[in-house]
Amino acid sequence: MSGQDTRAAVIGWTALALLTCVHGGHMLDLLRAATPTNPLGHPDPPPVPRVRCWCSSYPNATVCSWPEPSHSPPTRYVATCRERHRESVIKPCHLVQPGSSPSSERLWSCHLPNLRLLTDHVINVTAIYSNRSSSYLSSFMLEDILKPDPPVDVQVSLKAKSLQVRWSPPPTWANMDIFPLKYHIRYQWTTRGILKSVGLGPFESTTAHLKGLAPGRSYLFQVCAKELLGLGECSRWSSAVKITLPRNNV
Ligand SMILES: *[C@@H]1O[C@H](CO)[C@@H](O)[C@H](O)[C@H]1NC(C)=O
Ligand SMILES: *[C@@H]1O[C@H](CO)[C@@H](O)[C@H](O)[C@H]1NC(C)=O
Ligand SMILES: *[C@@H]1O[C@H](CO)[C@@H](O)[C@H](O)[C@H]1NC(C)=O
Repeated sequence: MSGQDTRAAVIGWTALALLTCVHGGHMLDLLRAATPTNPLGHPDPPPVPRVRCWCSSYPNATVCSWPEPSHSPPTRYVATCRERHRESVIKPCHLVQPGSSPSSERLWSCHLPNLRLLTDHVINVTAIYSNRSSSYLSSFMLEDILKPDPPVDVQVSLKAKSLQVRWSPPPTWANMDIFPLKYHIRYQWTTRGILKSVGLGPFESTTAHLKGLAPGRSYLFQVCAKELLGLGECSRWSSAVKITLPRNNV
């Protein structure tokens, strides 16, 4: 590391310790960031992991994930979670190593089973290299980080004078009866090379009937799922389904 890099790194740690981290539209306070000093001759601490957490099945399945920095020396991770007001009970966050797809970014993740509802949790992901370590610490409530997986089996078909869009809830959302979902539809088309997009919803059922679409035009349909009360964020969009309307009849 050059002198300039070292200064940048030290400033980086200081800035990180002061900053709060905005993630997914929610404020997560970064309680403390890194081992700040770098005495001469000692190895640099590993970078603070860039961690993102979300809950894809309330309250069963919370995942935290962070990219492995490129060209990093062999780094070990320890991930734990505790309730903010019960310091003594520390649960492991079960680590999953990155898959071996060479093209994309290598992502580490860790899994947390059932967490208590409406409770502040503190996640601690510590990167350890040689005898130096850097911790990412952040607090969250499950209710703020809900993000279901996308709906599946999206089907679009012509029914009499309307277009029917049907889908199935994300199979990973385990407690559909207790914590129902609502859905949004997005459809897109291009006209003279410009992409147009319309959003519809929320829908509480898994079928919608749409009218007023232009004959002869091709549309792409996608659906996302969100917790019924609006907690957290909508899932990623489902994979797109294309339909071309006949020139007459709709
Ligand atoms: C998810 O949690 C609910 C209630 O907390 C429980 O009944 C169910 O068995 C859990 N499912 C899984 C897959 O862990
Ligand atoms: C975070 O985890 C590391 C590794 O287990 C531990 O050494 C450190 O004390 C923890 N930090 C806090 C604030 O709990
Ligand atoms: C890390 O190890 C080096 C030698 O390998 C030692 O000089 C240094 O004091 C150690 N640092 C800490 C924080 O333990």
